[in-house]
Amino acid sequence: MKRTLGVCYYPEHWPEAQWAEDAARMAELGLTWVRIGEFAWSRIEPVPGRYDWAWLDRAIETLGAAGLKVVLGTPTATPPRWMLDRHPDMLAVDAQGRTRGFGSRRHYCFSHRGYRHESARIVTALAERYGRNPHIAAWQTDNEYGCHDTVLSYSDAALKAFRDWLAQRYQSTEALNRAWGNIFWSMEYSSFDDIGLPNLTVTEANPAHVMAFRRFASDEVVGYNRLQTDIIRKFSDAPIAHNYMGRITEFDHFATGADLDIASWDAYPLGFLSDRLEVTPEHKRRFVRQGDPDFQAFHHDLYRAVGRGRWWIMEQQPGPVNWAPWNADPLPGMARLWAWEAFAHGAEAVCYFRWRQAPFAQEQMHAGLLRPDSAPAQAFHEAGEVAKELAAMPDVDAARADVALVFDYASAWAWQTQPQGQDFDYFRLAFSFYRGLRRLGLNIDILPPDCGDLGNYKLVLAPGIATLSAPLLNALARHNGASLVGPRSNAKTVEFATPVPLPPNLPGLAATVARVESLPPDVPVPLDLGGNFLHWREKLETEGTVVERSTDGWPALVAAGGLHYLAGWPDETALDRILTTLCDARGILVDPLPEGLRRRDSGTHRFWFNYNAVPVERGEVTIPAAGVYWEKLD
Ligand code: GAL
Repeated sequence: MKRTLGVCYYPEHWPEAQWAEDAARMAELGLTWVRIGEFAWSRIEPVPGRYDWAWLDRAIETLGAAGLKVVLGTPTATPPRWMLDRHPDMLAVDAQGRTRGFGSRRHYCFSHRGYRHESARIVTALAERYGRNPHIAAWQTDNEYGCHDTVLSYSDAALKAFRDWLAQRYQSTEALNRAWGNIFWSMEYSSFDDIGLPNLTVTEANPAHVMAFRRFASDEVVGYNRLQTDIIRKFSDAPIAHNYMGRITEFDHFATGADLDIASWDAYPLGFLSDRLEVTPEHKRRFVRQGDPDFQAFHHDLYRAVGRGRWWIMEQQPGPVNWAPWNADPLPGMARLWAWEAFAHGAEAVCYFRWRQAPFAQEQMHAGLLRPDSAPAQAFHEAGEVAKELAAMPDVDAARADVALVFDYASAWAWQTQPQGQDFDYFRLAFSFYRGLRRLGLNIDILPPDCGDLGNYKLVLAPGIATLSAPLLNALARHNGASLVGPRSNAKTVEFATPVPLPPNLPGLAATVARVESLPPDVPVPLDLGGNFLHWREKLETEGTVVERSTDGWPALVAAGGLHYLAGWPDETALDRILTTLCDARGILVDPLPEGLRRRDSGTHRFWFNYNAVPVERGEVTIPAAGVYWEKLD
């Protein structure tokens, strides 16, 4: 498949006289795609029921005539002000009970039936008009579900929909009371209409109640997205994408992904390093203008799984962003490196955000490929360079990996609901295992939690999966390769109770978690063979093989055949050792990499990505600072 570049463009922000020149410059730069429309509702429908298509017709025609393919976004992330007059109660409500206001974006509650109706109406109108337009080559539903903390809403609409959802799921309040253990503090219900949302309780709400609400909220996003995809498909054969984000776990992306043709995500490496990673200040300093060396790759692999092989970058950081605590300027070369790293992981397209920096409103400090005065910014030249390189590179196939990591959204909800130690965060745990594999120079696939076939993977990791699904348990039992499960895996039932017999209940492994402890960050538990458990460890009773112990004698890693259970959260030293031993035993070639240098094999090439601000030597080759190097594989 030919890999391509694109850009996000807002024709409604610029005088019409400028569109043709913009389009010509995009094409000349070597861009293929232009995404438009996702925030333009107030121009498409200035007053309720009166559509103004003329400008959008002309914008699409102008871009298409320049040879660009258009990704058309549905504008539902930004309902216009008049919508509130029609549906004053459509606004989301936060956990403190405060109604969120108009004046930015994403101010709707996923559960509001009136707003769903309005969304269906505008999506129908848009799809009807442009579904067969030859320039519309893909669609995007809404924009970044979950951005600005918008999945969980405690509105009246959510309450009503939650009660309906509970009635469907449990059928009777007796069943619900039993499943949740509501006898515990006399929390039993006799009618679904008595059940509230799990906020503003005196102390913590029943975790089973919270988990049910989290599942419900995720289902609401899935249903809302499906409403849109069902409509678009009636009028168009073009593929449909949504643009997901970095480290957003509030809804099950695998479930939304099932209704989409392409997964895409919005990659802002410097913003993410600044605002959503548990790393040392030294690490932040070192990579301040490059981004974390593993965070992008993790999401590339995740969204390749969510998209069942088809995935894009819908928004790629081009220069400083505006929204992180600090907004550094990327090192020259990074806008090229980030794009190539995505392609090496199988991205079909990389679209930069945005064409021209806006001189007005919220994001005026956010760079684009062009400055506000239309002069090229740094990333403009780098995008052009990537376009030329792509033209010369016939293809970049996404290769299969020997190792896989299971990723599960429900586990993120579970351990937020009952962390038991304030550092126990599911994403953090899964990402630390992913990093460990990357430090060893490995290609990694991410698998969904209901995966029933582990295929030819030589090593599968499943840390922190709150409830192992039946298909995955079966697959683990049948698997010929090695697996590493735990810590804290299979520790809850689906209804968020502690299972008896006690966890981990793994096929063929006689091990029981007798008790657990969480630890402050400065209380490590040393392991016999080196390194430590941090944050969390478990006391295992076992008749399985004890592979290693902590220095106080507790089993740390146990095994039965290829199946391993890890009884704590390993630090880097322990993880590197454990992974290396497992890889060596299974014939997986590891290549421990220097800090900041990362590697990925495609089907045809080996790529090196140097996230350091200084050059790195690799054998005969010097990889420049913020540079990419590739060589053909034999
Ligand atoms: C994304 C969003 C864009 C823009 C961008 C700025 O989260 O989808 O519309 O706001 O961030 O970095």
